[in-house]
Amino acid sequence: MWLSRLWGTQEVIFFLSITSYVCHLAGAISISSYQQSLTKSVQEDVMFSVDISCLGIPTIQWSFMSARVSRTIGSWQPGGITNVSEEYTDRVQTFNNGSMALSDLSVEDAGFYVITVTELSGSSKDAGFVLKVEEVLYEDLQYLSVFTVVLAFLAAALMLSMWLMDKTYRQLKAWNRQRQKKDNDETELQAL
Ligand SMILES: *[C@@H]1O[C@H](CO)[C@@H](O)[C@H](O)[C@H]1NC(C)=O
Ligand SMILES: *[C@@H]1O[C@H](CO)[C@@H](O)[C@H](O)[C@H]1NC(C)=O
Repeated sequence: MWLSRLWGTQEVIFFLSITSYVCHLAGAISISSYQQSLTKSVQEDVMFSVDISCLGIPTIQWSFMSARVSRTIGSWQPGGITNVSEEYTDRVQTFNNGSMALSDLSVEDAGFYVITVTELSGSSKDAGFVLKVEEVLYEDLQYLSVFTVVLAFLAAALMLSMWLMDKTYRQLKAWNRQRQKKDNDETELQAL
C-alpha cells in the first residue's frame, strides 16, 4: 500500500491520535433537536426528540427541574439497561437516539428537561428543553358560553310564549264578552 510505504506505523498512530484529539476539542458529542420549547395541555403526551452522535456507546440521562423540584428521571444506554426512577416508570418511554416521551402530563410537569450525554471517556454534553403545560380552560369557557346562549334563548322563547298565551287569553275573553253581549242584545230584541 502506498500509504504505509509513505507513512510509517508510528506516524499513522500519531496522525490518528491528533485527529481524535481535535475531534474531542471540537466536541465529539452532538445533540440535535428540532424544538427546544414545547407547549402541551394537561393529559397530553410529549416527545423530547433528539438525535445524539458520539464516540462509542453513550450513557443518556434525563433530569427535570422546576421552581420546586429537581430530580433525575432516568438513564440508559442504547441497547443496554434502562433505569427510570419509580415515579416515572409508567409514564416514560426511552429511545436509542436519546429521545424521551412522557405521557399523561400534569401541570406539575412544566419546567426544564435536561439531557446529559456521557461518553465512555467521561466527557459529556447537555441540552435543555422547556415544557409548558396548559390547563384546558379554553374548552370549558367555550362550553360555558354555548350553555349561556342556549339558556338565554330558552328564556326568551318562554317569555315570548307566555306573552302570546296572555294575549290570546285576553282576546278570547274579549270575544266571549262580545258574543255574550250580542246574544243578550238579540234576546232583548226578541223579547220586544
Ligand atoms: C428519535 O427516535 C424516535 C423514535 O424512533 C423518533 O420518533 C424521533 O423522531 C427521533 N428523533 C430525531 C431527532 O431523529
Ligand atoms: C437507577 O437510578 C437511581 C436514581 O435515579 C439510582 O439511585 C440507582 O443507583 C440507579 N440504578 C442503577 C442500576 O443504575
